[in-house]
Amino acid sequence: MLTSFPSSGRLGVLISGRGSNLQAIIDAITEGRLDATIAVVVSNRADAGGLERARRAGIDTVVLDQRGFGSRDAYDRTLVTELRRREVGLICLAGFMRLLSSTFLEAFPDRILNIHPSLLPSFPGLDGQEQAWRHGVKIAGATVHIVTPELDAGPIVLQAVVPVLEGDTSETLGDRILEVEHRIYPEAIGIMLSGGWRLDGRRFLRS
Ligand code: GRF
Repeated sequence: MLTSFPSSGRLGVLISGRGSNLQAIIDAITEGRLDATIAVVVSNRADAGGLERARRAGIDTVVLDQRGFGSRDAYDRTLVTELRRREVGLICLAGFMRLLSSTFLEAFPDRILNIHPSLLPSFPGLDGQEQAWRHGVKIAGATVHIVTPELDAGPIVLQAVVPVLEGDTSETLGDRILEVEHRIYPEAIGIMLSGGWRLDGRRFLRS
């Protein structure tokens, strides 16, 4: 089934924290490596460091604190409204620490990306880099995938490997994984926006 979509190149980036992946996307656009526009950055936390990065870059920001909403569904409906209002064509989760309801997923089918700090399907969930280090794997890495209802389990767009060194702590390994995240997330967004891809089962194919 062909599932690629003509996209406006308008991104909505969802964050909860420091926003280093958001910064990588901003930098890729500024340096001409990614042909896209960040239409809005949404955070569920008013104190997210990434909000300042967005403001510095002159990007529209919205804070949606879940405490103001009666249910996950009500929150997600507002999120959809904010994104649609700005004609967002692709949503990029960048450290957004909330599970998304079917209301949200169905509003943007195959149009939501996430970055995860492990080679999925290994080590889904929180602290993937720490899980990999504790497990003692020799090869770690990062994954950009399409978001589906099951956590960290959607079709894989891009992955990159990071060798684990004998002297690594989970922090040093996590730092090297983060560098790779910053490289592959803008690249994956570019692939999604360029179209011409399709899903064969859960395999993401570019031909
Ligand atoms: C990254 O490690 C990403 O893989 C994970 O959350 C972290 C976000 O970091 N999903 P940052 O806010 O982009 O710096």
